[in-house]
Amino acid sequence: MFASPILPVKTSLKSFNTFGIAATAEQLIEINHEAQLLPLRTLLMDRYANDPARKLQILGGGSNLLICSDIAQPIVRMALLGIHCVASQGSVRIVEAAAGEAWHPFVRYCLDQGWNGLENLSLIPGTVGASPIQNIGAYGVEMKDNFDSLRAWNWRTGEIKTWDKNACCFAYRDSIFKQAEGKDWIVLSVRFVLSTDAKPSVEYADLKNELGQEVPTALSVSDAVCRIRSRKLPDPAVIGNAGSFFKNPIIAADKATALSKQFTGIPVWPSGPKSKVSAAWLIDQCGWKGFRDGDAGVHTQHALVLVNYGSASGKQLQNLALKIAESVQAKYGITLEAEPVQWPL
Ligand code: EPU
Repeated sequence: MFASPILPVKTSLKSFNTFGIAATAEQLIEINHEAQLLPLRTLLMDRYANDPARKLQILGGGSNLLICSDIAQPIVRMALLGIHCVASQGSVRIVEAAAGEAWHPFVRYCLDQGWNGLENLSLIPGTVGASPIQNIGAYGVEMKDNFDSLRAWNWRTGEIKTWDKNACCFAYRDSIFKQAEGKDWIVLSVRFVLSTDAKPSVEYADLKNELGQEVPTALSVSDAVCRIRSRKLPDPAVIGNAGSFFKNPIIAADKATALSKQFTGIPVWPSGPKSKVSAAWLIDQCGWKGFRDGDAGVHTQHALVLVNYGSASGKQLQNLALKIAESVQAKYGITLEAEPVQWPL
């Protein structure tokens, strides 16, 4: 039933995380079919029934993950596949994708069918199943903007439930699945609301510049986003990284106004009643861009991206992140929060 053996077999996680950290897991269980959920639950409950606080470590594309040491527990990798248009009315298409589908190929597949809406989220690494967990976002669009619903499985109770947008409590890089209430749920599939005639969203300054005088189509926006990302962000296949390592901090609007007066050029955007500050700028101003200590470093083109030049350990990267956060705190009085999940949980 399981693709990987049920008996514990220590597995290297190096090729399963985009940082390329060479940690091991006690066992890696790959789920390719929903029929595998029942035996998986038996295995997990044998072990964790009396440990209600236990969080399961679920692997998608491993692109928002920092593994800080070997994992003395089984890891579950969601590899369910399938993409279907499940409803069509006028120009609206409801498209369902299984959790294990790779995100960017899914976006391009939709664009090829003329199902538009996800183009700004092109080239984001990871899987469809991981996309709602942190409500991925880029170039002025967040996943929640095109989200319909998702199906998730509770590994403790065995229940499968459909979650609508409200139930998911999406916020900037956040959802209920990062909170205590959502911790036992594993995403099986996600439905998106797409459209055959949606007008692309091109308000993000970088994107506007990249498109120039071009009349944007969903496909040209996707191509432009791919060009920008390829220029600014390191390819994990070449240099290990997990994209942005810190969230852009959200601070009180009056504090942002005071900082803008004190530090010319600080990028600040409104975020509801509060203000969002550019973490990349803060880190850059603290002199970290291009920093390297052994194989752990800060990308030369983007200060928000920590990189593994080869054999950095998760602990080394974690220590570097701590030092960066401390320097930003000392200079600006702003607390940076890491974006990637850090294992072991
Ligand atoms: N900046 C610097 N130094 C740098 C890089 C950027 O000062 O080294 C400044 C730029 O000049 C700009 C500002 O920081 O004014 C924002 O930079 P950018 O447009 O690159 O966006 P970001 O806020 O740093 C966010 C997301 C990215 C997403 C981009 C584009 C977060 C944590 N990150 O980065 O997402 O691709 O916007 O929309 O929200 C990711 O989550 O992994 C990720 C890459």
